[in-house]
Amino acid sequence: MRFLFLILFIVSCNMKNDFSEIDERANKILSSLSLEDKIGQMTQINLTVIAKGPNKWSSSFPMEIDPKKARKALVDFKVGSVLNTINNTAQKPETWFNTISDIQELAMNDTESKIPVIYGIDAIHGTTYTDGATMFPQQITTAASWNPENAYNMALVSAYETRASGIPWNFSPVLDLGIDPRFSRQFETFGEDPLLVERFGVEMIKGYQGLNNDVSNKYSVAACMKHFVGYHATISGKDRTPAYIPDNVLKEFHIEPFKKAIEAGAKSIMINSGLINGVPAHASYDLMINTLRNELGFEGVILTDWEDIRKLHDRDKVAESQKEAVKMAINAGIDMSMVPYEYEQFVNDLLNLVREGEVSESRIDDAVLRILKLKLELGLFENPVTNYKDFDDFGSKKHHQLAYKAASESITLLKNDDKILPITGKPKLLVVGPNGNNMRTLNGAWSYSWQGDLTDRFAGEYNTIYEAISNVYGKSNVKYVSGVSYKENGAYYEMVEDDIDLALNEAKKSDYIILCLGESTYTEKPGDLNDLNLHKLQLKLAKKMAQSGKPVILILNLGRPRLISDIESLMSSVVNVYLPGNFGGDALADILSGKVNPSGKLPYTYPLYPNSLLPYYYKPSEVQNNAQGAYNYIGEVNNLYNFGFGLSYSDFKYGDLRLDKDTYNIDDTIKVSISVSNTSDIDGFETVQLYSSDLYASITPDVKRLREFSKININARESVLVEFYLPVSELAFANAQNVFVVEPGKFKISISNLSKEISVL
Ligand code: BGC
Repeated sequence: MRFLFLILFIVSCNMKNDFSEIDERANKILSSLSLEDKIGQMTQINLTVIAKGPNKWSSSFPMEIDPKKARKALVDFKVGSVLNTINNTAQKPETWFNTISDIQELAMNDTESKIPVIYGIDAIHGTTYTDGATMFPQQITTAASWNPENAYNMALVSAYETRASGIPWNFSPVLDLGIDPRFSRQFETFGEDPLLVERFGVEMIKGYQGLNNDVSNKYSVAACMKHFVGYHATISGKDRTPAYIPDNVLKEFHIEPFKKAIEAGAKSIMINSGLINGVPAHASYDLMINTLRNELGFEGVILTDWEDIRKLHDRDKVAESQKEAVKMAINAGIDMSMVPYEYEQFVNDLLNLVREGEVSESRIDDAVLRILKLKLELGLFENPVTNYKDFDDFGSKKHHQLAYKAASESITLLKNDDKILPITGKPKLLVVGPNGNNMRTLNGAWSYSWQGDLTDRFAGEYNTIYEAISNVYGKSNVKYVSGVSYKENGAYYEMVEDDIDLALNEAKKSDYIILCLGESTYTEKPGDLNDLNLHKLQLKLAKKMAQSGKPVILILNLGRPRLISDIESLMSSVVNVYLPGNFGGDALADILSGKVNPSGKLPYTYPLYPNSLLPYYYKPSEVQNNAQGAYNYIGEVNNLYNFGFGLSYSDFKYGDLRLDKDTYNIDDTIKVSISVSNTSDIDGFETVQLYSSDLYASITPDVKRLREFSKININARESVLVEFYLPVSELAFANAQNVFVVEPGKFKISISNLSKEISVL
């Protein structure tokens, strides 16, 4: 014990020394910089701006730095940060190494300040823009595993493979609350529940930055949480449109996961591209200074999202000129602007604003000090680019296995009539549908390309659903026909009918139909949606398949829960694979055959109707009955599948819910125990979910809130006692004065269909 204490003491002294040494070095560098140097440090440009090619927006292949353009940006304008790839296309690790080496050579040899550039990238479910990188399931899929270790593994591998690409800064994790099934980026989140977002988000920070947050380690990257805050809570459900969020809702639901990630040491943050209550987040002193800096104590770098300073003028009309927009954003707390094209204008505007006294030099110093510290912490001065040759595990089997594990723990069985799954033996299978035979839709966007459109070019060696099923059941037993498919049309994909009658003929000749429906790939504005229903051609195909009289297993491969209410009753089984990544096909095939027992649970509410889109934590008035109970207007009972729902091949039975007391004080911890039995002959994983309900409160309480969860393995015919320790303080909500409180009174603690009431004094 004494020994352990001593070690801890030494470690903490060292960390202290390191941090103060970094402070000292950063201050020293800062004091040697000219105003021009400093403003350059606050500027981030897109790689295309300095790459060879016809213009700022597109580059030529192979990816190479254009010495003239790069000199102008990095030396003349002293730009301190670069992001992205060229033409949204993945590059080989070696190409990354050469490109970033060229950039650092200019920045460190040809400028007076000799400050390395910090390169940033979106590696959000694996290292998006590197050829050969390991693609994990997307965040929404990972959340469905209800095992935060999968988020940790994904971040650990992504950090490693991002550094193997010479890049030290990752614009991830997404800590937005995925509250709206219409939103084009719900798949980038950990779903609708703040506790899930928080638990998985913190694991991502640990995976990216290492357990002691020492990002000078060449296997770690600096995380960039995004998009602060309330980005997904728009009224229209469309990307970058207005949100109206009361302060206490913002605090309790949206800010909490960021708060926990900040406590975990996250090094940087990106601001929400939209507006809240009419105020663009990028112009909000209240969000960035009052909340982020003063209340949450965030010390890291605050980065804009894409072109968002410009948009204060161009789009949001709160600034009368570009220059005014720069003044607003920097004075509101932005440290670095992802310009990313018209950098000359940004630099000149900011220079003039400082000279005119509209932005103080101390604000500039404050921003630049944070940027310099980040560069120092990352060890960029000593090691400006990591070399792919030092990363033997890039794209390794070991990494692939972790991605497979995450997919196999996430896939969620939503319906299984007559226990039709698993399908054993070697029956004749027809794989049909637009999502059945490509790697693109398994991965979704941010996969070797921004919109995911290039995935099949880069991920050909992995198995599509059809290929994986053929591997398991034998090629001669499995046939694929598309029926309908996605056809590329410029920037979009349209749904086209191939041959539905042919599909029906084949269906009649098969024993089972594996119907793979869902979505094409998309993110951001291209993913905006006007109809939550699954495309009508897909519904037509589903109905035709059902006409065959053969059992239809519906595989959902989608980034958000598209409505399937018209066809669900025709399906024998429904399996949601979400966006499971490169090993999703294999994981699915193993689940269909029974090699893997499914254990995923929904991280969102699966809606039944387009006008009933509520998370599970709605207010009681959403379900209103008259005295006779005749009207049930809306609410949980109208969901197709509830949040937290997912079947297993095992059967679980809950019993004997116990609490250590029935009355608690505010600083007590509630000890909860429950017995969970596997009453089947198959070993399986079950996720035990503990919810609380505040029965009466000063503002209307939510019907229930997830407070704890634990995913456990229970062997066949065995029981396990599960214990939770829930501090009473966790029952708090943000009240009308925007203060977290636990109000004395009655609460209900529930697990599965069992519950107990308690009093809090
Ligand atoms: C997205 C961000 C992303 C950035 C850089 C923006 O359009 O909203 O999530 O990090 O682009 O690629």
